Amino acid sequence: MTSHDGPARYGHLDCNSPIAAWRLDRQVEECAAANPQVIVDIGCGWGELLQRVTAKVAGAKAYGIDSDAELLERGRAGAASRGIADRLEFVEYRGEDWTEPADLVISIGAVHAFGTAADALRKLYKIVKPGGRLLIGDGVWNRVPTEAELAAMWPETSLGDWFSLPEFVDAAVATGFRPLRVESVEQSEWDDFESQFLADKEVWLLGNPDHPEAAAVREQADAHRNWWLRGHRGLLGFAYLTLGRPVE
Ligand SMILES: C[S@@+](CC[C@H](N)C(=O)[O-])C[C@H]1O[C@@H](n2cnc3c(N)ncnc32)[C@H](O)[C@@H]1O
Repeated sequence: MTSHDGPARYGHLDCNSPIAAWRLDRQVEECAAANPQVIVDIGCGWGELLQRVTAKVAGAKAYGIDSDAELLERGRAGAASRGIADRLEFVEYRGEDWTEPADLVISIGAVHAFGTAADALRKLYKIVKPGGRLLIGDGVWNRVPTEAELAAMWPETSLGDWFSLPEFVDAAVATGFRPLRVESVEQSEWDDFESQFLADKEVWLLGNPDHPEAAAVREQADAHRNWWLRGHRGLLGFAYLTLGRPVE
């Protein structure tokens, strides 16, 4: 379904991950404070965080890597409106194949591109320059789910899909990183994210109840809301780790 005759995609979201405005502001400040001169965001989407950090660090060269051309276009428009299009390049590329090292590597909600979170940490370590940083975000189990709870999540979800928060941090340390900040979102950040994700469809349905696609859109929205409220809500958290790679 195209955006001109159906719901928009991500039109109500500033970032495509659960994060409160205050937390995003702090991440931007902390990422910029390290003065990274080369920045890469793997699985950037439209790269709101990436755009904001790049705008704050004078002279930094930044790359946003994603496989979704439509999201990259939104990123390019944002970079142009912030006056940083000459320093921030959005590249359609497989994130797992990116090899150019950076002072700051960002990868939020995209570990599946590498396999598991442990795979992502190992592969991303190689592109963080010694002395540089990684900001990584991924889901974490708040507690061990029961079989019934797993079944209420999307098909083929398994316990091994996510770490708990301590396991995620342990995996980062085992990879060679040191943790500079460990944070996990509040339930309200997940609820805001899922509500805003669904708002494209819900607002469109209110204005287009008899559209030929309305029944399918309604079914998708109801299924997603069910998966959220009866599936992962309260069970799945989301963690951001700011990690440092030691100098050599
Ligand atoms: C949950 S979104 C997060 C986007 C962004 N990091 C944010 O927080 O707003 C995950 C992103 O990873 C991208 N992605 C998934 N697999 C990828 C791959 N193999 N290479 C590059 N990008 C990928 C998707 O297109 C999507 O934009």
